[in-house]
Amino acid sequence: MRKASRITRAALAIGALVAVGALAVGSSASAKNHRKGGKLKITSTPWGTANGHEVNLYTLTNRNGMKVKITNYGGVVQSIWVPDRHGRLANVALGFSNLDDYVNDFQHQPWPASGGSGDTYFGAIIGRYANRIAGAEFTLNGHAYPLGSGPPCPSTPTPNNGPNLLHGGPDSYNTQVWGATTHQAAHSVGLELTYTDPDCKNGFPGTVQNTVTYTLTDKNQLQIQYAATTDKPTVVNFTNHTYFNLAGEGSGDVLRQKLRINADSYTPVDSNLIPTGVLAPVAGTPFDFRHMKPIGKNIRDSDEQLQIAHGYDHNWVLNGSGLRAAAFAEDPHSGRTLTTFTDEPGVQFYTGNFLVGDLVGTSGHAYRQTDGFTLETQHFPNSPNQSSFPSTVLDPGQTFSSTTIYKFGLAR
Ligand code: GAL
Repeated sequence: MRKASRITRAALAIGALVAVGALAVGSSASAKNHRKGGKLKITSTPWGTANGHEVNLYTLTNRNGMKVKITNYGGVVQSIWVPDRHGRLANVALGFSNLDDYVNDFQHQPWPASGGSGDTYFGAIIGRYANRIAGAEFTLNGHAYPLGSGPPCPSTPTPNNGPNLLHGGPDSYNTQVWGATTHQAAHSVGLELTYTDPDCKNGFPGTVQNTVTYTLTDKNQLQIQYAATTDKPTVVNFTNHTYFNLAGEGSGDVLRQKLRINADSYTPVDSNLIPTGVLAPVAGTPFDFRHMKPIGKNIRDSDEQLQIAHGYDHNWVLNGSGLRAAAFAEDPHSGRTLTTFTDEPGVQFYTGNFLVGDLVGTSGHAYRQTDGFTLETQHFPNSPNQSSFPSTVLDPGQTFSSTTIYKFGLAR
């Protein structure tokens, strides 16, 4: 145990990651409190049907007793059970207790203009293009692609979010029943999910073959690896849409939980939540999370950007490149911490602004604004229409690959 904590300190000191396999365990306190001697395993249980296909709920358990439940409906992370400083497990991911609630939310909820919470995308894999594409249209190699629902290629843009296409459009990756294979290794268990997104689905060119692999390690890391290929030039952007509440879902708001984001700038948005193209310094704004501060510290500041989004719902431009620490969150009360690592250039920090209390979550509590936060690692929103942003183009012959890790630990 002593050796593990030394490695942890060294890794924190250099503030860098050499490789996924070299990730630090967390604090020595966490090592003490973990339930040692548990069994590493992955099990599966039938969870109903969606779109005429049988759906399973997979439970990944590590030797510390940490558990992650994932369904192959939308690749949704349904719950994440992690210990507090007394070793007590709580589910830190917002979600639903049953498949029908996901289907009703993901496939039948209208956009909030109607007054409800809209589609929450709780825990889901998001593609083919995570976040917003302005005007539900983009141009690639001189060809304009209208996006939205269509049979199968829309001839005009059909937005699903104000004037935009959001999260790949209707019935996208989050509503598919993915193929699933389980894996077990010496110190991890994994679930490999596959989905073929057809040519022209929601207007995107090319058939995209997707593999998303979730791995739970004995170091309390939930790793997510994305891989994709295409047979025509297209655009891709993938994320996972888990909402975290480190005190436990349904326990109230996250305003006193603390956050640090490793970013000197962010992408301010227009009134449709589309980045203006400017990379604005966070210094001197409520968007400055370079040092740990409570999520609620500045959320009610008089700030045009916060007013547009009704809270935080913005893309931070992460410092550095390659797999690196992007954000660190901590619940001072329970002691639970979450470190997010990614090789993506950005992260959408969203405070659940569209949750209005009309959806009842896993443990029977209604969810309201700020009851959870997301850290959606991603390329920047609307990159296909913004040539100054890192490119999201994927060409035939290339393989897109990306890794995000959510590592749970305990405060010192
Ligand atoms: C987020 C997005 C929010 C909202 C949410 C789903 O990724 O930034 O604006 O649409 O998804 O309700």
